[in-house]
Amino acid sequence: MNAVKISTGEIAYIERGTGPLVLLVHGFPLDHTMWDGQVEALTERFRVIVPDLRGFGRSPLGIVDPDLGITMEQYADDLVELLDALTIGADNQVVLAGFSMGGYIAWQFVQKHLRRLRALVLCDARAADDTDEARAGRLKMAEKVAEWGAARVAEMMGPKLIAPKTFESRPEVVAAVRRVVGRTAPAAIAAAQRGMARRPDMTAFLRQITVPTLVLVGADDAISPPAEMQSIALAIPDAKFVVIPNAGHMTPMENPDAVNRAMIDFITHLPRLFSPSQ
Ligand code: MLT
Repeated sequence: MNAVKISTGEIAYIERGTGPLVLLVHGFPLDHTMWDGQVEALTERFRVIVPDLRGFGRSPLGIVDPDLGITMEQYADDLVELLDALTIGADNQVVLAGFSMGGYIAWQFVQKHLRRLRALVLCDARAADDTDEARAGRLKMAEKVAEWGAARVAEMMGPKLIAPKTFESRPEVVAAVRRVVGRTAPAAIAAAQRGMARRPDMTAFLRQITVPTLVLVGADDAISPPAEMQSIALAIPDAKFVVIPNAGHMTPMENPDAVNRAMIDFITHLPRLFSPSQ
């Protein structure tokens, strides 16, 4: 992996391929490897950049307020600093694909850094903020995770992340999800949970999104269910909505081929993307 310095610390990332830019942003508590099933297929046509958000994978946690954690806006700002460090400016806009927490970050990216954005792929993410109960659960995990360890988080979250069918028939996917969650640093889990607990409700913002958008969801997603994601797609002008079969929440890992097909179809049909001026 490569790494660049940013104002809040350092971001590790992989970069492959040439062509239109695709930035893949992982979810919680994961790292860039959750996109392993996409990288090869996408790099046949695109320049793909896959970072580890601060604290996850190979990126150090950097500067964090221990009580407030890292906000979704701050992660989005980190991504812009990564692009800046790679001298990717507003004249080379990115297709940003955000999975779950990566989607929460994507809303902030759209709101604050629209001119850097070519198109949006929202994968198994929510627009609403947390209920009081969900928020309390996040803050409890943030407080306790140092004592629990990430392996316990993997045990707690596993059944929600993966479809029952995948659990039964794809032990290698289950093991891969457990592995990545289980090796995540407790301090990164705490910082992200505190940040997600404070994330705003973006529902009213959806109708203002002007970039082409693809909304993807696993048919058996229990965290961001298809009906909820369909309402997100209906609220965003002209958004495309695709349900991925044989997948729960971890759609890119559970059914990578279907995700790749949907993303490649969407990106290659974006207007102007392949015009001579780009
Ligand atoms: C994720 O996959 O990023 C998480 O499930 C998001 C969340 O905890 O809301």
